[in-house]
Amino acid sequence: LSTVEVDVSSLEPGMSLTVKWRGKPVFIRNRTEQEIEAAKQVPLSDLKDPEARNENLPASAPATDVDRSAGEGKENWLVMIGVCTHLGCIPLGQSGEFGGWFCPCHGSHYDTAGRIRKGPAPENMAIPLFEFTSDTVVRIG
Ligand code: FES
Repeated sequence: LSTVEVDVSSLEPGMSLTVKWRGKPVFIRNRTEQEIEAAKQVPLSDLKDPEARNENLPASAPATDVDRSAGEGKENWLVMIGVCTHLGCIPLGQSGEFGGWFCPCHGSHYDTAGRIRKGPAPENMAIPLFEFTSDTVVRIG
């Protein structure tokens, strides 16, 4: 299937689920206020990859927290392809030095916005095309 629809109504803040889309895992996380705040505090100059890598935005969009999220008013939602941008392992959630994801293959640390912060991965985890078709349903692809 080229698109999948996911009911996210059961995800309280701090909960995630993973769905398969085009053979890849997609992480959907309802982020906590603390996770959002932590990501917002990071100056863009601290980022290894300053680009949002968000298919829903122009390629030039910066990797601000809002541009990594589902956007204004839906900043709690992070929808991203759960594949490490180094060599393609699947990172572990709520792990690593930045409280986001950690890839155990070669030690890449991602923050709570899925941005690469430390380790060999070159890019932020990719945000696929997606859209909320209601408050509780997200369509990916
Ligand atoms: Fe993730 Fe190498 S594949 S750090």
